[in-house]
Amino acid sequence: MNHKPQKLYIATFGCQMNDRDSEIMAQLLADDYQPTSDLDQADMVIVNTCSIRAKAEQKAFSLLGALRKYKKTRPKMIIAATGCVAQQDGNKIFSRMNHVDLVIGPQSIYRLPELTGKLKEKRKKIDCTKFSKSFVIPPFLPDINSGLPHKRFVTIMQGCNNYCTYCIVPYVRGREISRLAADIIAEVKHLVAHGIREVTLLGQNVNSYGNDQKGEFPGFPQLLRQVAAIKGVERLRFTTSNPKDLSDELIACFADLDNLCSHFHLPVQSGSNLILKRMNRKYTIEKYLEQVEKLRRARADIVLTTDIIVGFPGENEDDFAATMKLLETLRYHSSFSFIYSSRPPARSCEFTDTIAEEIKKERLARYQARQKEITLERHHEYVGRIMEIMVEGESRNRTGQWCGRTTGNQIVNFDSQENLAPGLIFEVKITEACFNSLRAVRVAD
Ligand code: 5AD
Ligand code: SF4
Repeated sequence: MNHKPQKLYIATFGCQMNDRDSEIMAQLLADDYQPTSDLDQADMVIVNTCSIRAKAEQKAFSLLGALRKYKKTRPKMIIAATGCVAQQDGNKIFSRMNHVDLVIGPQSIYRLPELTGKLKEKRKKIDCTKFSKSFVIPPFLPDINSGLPHKRFVTIMQGCNNYCTYCIVPYVRGREISRLAADIIAEVKHLVAHGIREVTLLGQNVNSYGNDQKGEFPGFPQLLRQVAAIKGVERLRFTTSNPKDLSDELIACFADLDNLCSHFHLPVQSGSNLILKRMNRKYTIEKYLEQVEKLRRARADIVLTTDIIVGFPGENEDDFAATMKLLETLRYHSSFSFIYSSRPPARSCEFTDTIAEEIKKERLARYQARQKEITLERHHEYVGRIMEIMVEGESRNRTGQWCGRTTGNQIVNFDSQENLAPGLIFEVKITEACFNSLRAVRVAD
């Protein structure tokens, strides 16, 4: 028998949900496969795909396509497509790419060892992309020996019920399913018991956590309080929130919980009420501004970030000007901004008043240029201030140069000749503002 350890290569595209799913898959296969970052060594390749925007999908397909030549020279290599593209295209992937062996939807990743075993036994392609109404996210204790030593993501729910008209997520990730609070708590306790100091609760729309469950189930603010109370959770974050479900109870958490980080990622998508309506976002800009005001009242130094889509069908100059105005009003610390792309079967694909590519590109450039200036202006406001950071690690390029993060999640670079453990928290004085980061010196204890 051949005992040579098998090697697993995972390529992850897209969001933090996918990053976490990739970690879970690596752990599920750990008995049989060791991770490798070298495709030439891989006995199994998982391409964990994302389909949220056209570009992400193209990248995933181009890697899947490139694997054809690997399979030719190494026919025993197992190739799996997982994630949102896999869910969306199901067994169509096999006809387009005959070298793919497994197509697994996001709900079925926990079945990976069983499906891989079946594939090896029967040598027959497997498509596992059916949604099940009775699906329950299983209890799962993360492997402490792989991954970052100081911070982790914890999935609290999957899927989305919102059907924003541009968005493919509800189709490829299914309806909202909240994980049992007891399982989440057990996972966080396990993490902190092994030295993890920062936890980010993850879901497509964390604000509606628990709404899909009947009976005794905490809402998101209650869950947040329970997790914050776990001894050892030095920093707590969450992502992502839809403003339509942002409650006063959640805002109150920012006033009450010291370990809840001063960062709120609150995707607005557009500054125009007309566009928000067509996007089916179910809030107005007035309501959004009110929420931000309340948040800033609860936590004056909160770092506000957002997602913006430019060039949504029907977006005229006035609508876009409203987005620019919102940026000026709120002065987001940073934003992720995207050109609208049509994602069938999302409803906006039927909208015929599409915007020309050059206009979309020009608007994106305008937005990003202004955001870049505002980010730098914001960073300048911190110069001279004392801020608490958590150590991330030493720079790969320069010994003695270290990187940490503020509670607002901003990157802070500083020099240190000491060997610092990731997760260590201390104060620094900000000395310089850069576009993507801050520079600082350590303050003597
Ligand atoms: N086109 C462009 N951006 C999109 N997003 C989601 N769907 C699309 C689309 N069809 C963006 C939104 C969302 C982020 C994760 O991706 O801004 O908040
Ligand atoms: Fe997509 Fe809207 Fe759900 Fe976010 S809230 S995942 S944008 S449908």
